[in-house]
Amino acid sequence: METEKDIYILAIESSCDETAAAVVRNGREVLSNVISTQIALHTLYGGVVPEIASRKHIEKINQVIEAALEEAGTELRRMDAIAVTYGPGLVGALLVGVSAAKALSFATGIPLVGVHHIEGHISANYIEHKELEPPYVCLVVSGGHSHLVVVKDYGEYEIIGQTRDDAAGEAFDKVARAIGLGYPGGPKIDKVSREGNPDAIAFPRAKLADSAYDFSFSGLKSAVLNYLNGCKMKGEEICQADVAASFQKAVVEVLVEHSMQALREYGYDRFAIAGGVASNSALREAMSEACHKNNIRFYNPSPVYCTDNAAMIGVAGYYEYRRGVRNGLDLNAVPNLRLGEKEF
Ligand code: KG4
Ligand code: ZN
Repeated sequence: METEKDIYILAIESSCDETAAAVVRNGREVLSNVISTQIALHTLYGGVVPEIASRKHIEKINQVIEAALEEAGTELRRMDAIAVTYGPGLVGALLVGVSAAKALSFATGIPLVGVHHIEGHISANYIEHKELEPPYVCLVVSGGHSHLVVVKDYGEYEIIGQTRDDAAGEAFDKVARAIGLGYPGGPKIDKVSREGNPDAIAFPRAKLADSAYDFSFSGLKSAVLNYLNGCKMKGEEICQADVAASFQKAVVEVLVEHSMQALREYGYDRFAIAGGVASNSALREAMSEACHKNNIRFYNPSPVYCTDNAAMIGVAGYYEYRRGVRNGLDLNAVPNLRLGEKEF
């Protein structure tokens, strides 16, 4: 039932290879979540081709927005705000969503709210965990980011750790390519690892001397490549499932260890994970177990809300809207936007 207080957000996301739109009511209720994925298109090239991504977004964006409104059983004029991802991401891809949102806002007078993509990922946790509220610690692991974040309040973040080189998802994608699994690597490694022995190969767990919370995955990636080369030179057969499972275990262990240490040292007893890699089954299991052992309440979004979607942008957009954030028609795409760094 619609009441006077209900706040409707139309959200748009186009930062990478998913064209997505959603309608979210009162910040936590997803009325529609439409995602048009380009994965099949980019698989041909072994990764996301930015030019192709932008072009495909242009083709799809209006259809996806219309479908989101229709599925939600509502109309554009009923929206209280239009939320859109304006960074970080691929600049050409971001521009498609930002331009569409600006055009709709200009035509209707509905306020425009720019959303940080990572804030969206974190906010995905609010959809299915109505009781979750800041403060808590969140690990964001996606194709472009690996961040340990203290969520101090809605819209208020402190980054306490991040990757020095490859993001966790990037490492999954590169290793998957090296062992012949193809793109996108994460879900494929996740699946094939179930058949493998995670203790078959001892890959290194990167420790950085100067920061307990920062991550580094390029050494692990090189170790996998060296192992594969070594096998090739010795004429030994490679067991894809064992390499995948051993690599996955090395990533998961580091993520779990850093997160638990951060929770202990910062004194939080609630922990959430977010981003595409958060849909990894081994990571979810290991985090859940570690949290249970350490008396920490563990939250994770369903896989569909872990990978890129617009519902999460609608949730983050709602809290930004409530905080009074309004963007003008000069809102631009910011490919390297940092979390907690608003650009207006
Ligand atoms: O959050 P996301 O959809 O896009 C970015 O913002 O980057 O994350 C995509 C990343 C890709 O690197 C993909 O391989 C990884 O998330 N991923 C996974 C799984 N599903 C997606 N990694 C490990 N296990 C999975 N099940
Ligand atoms: Zn993402």
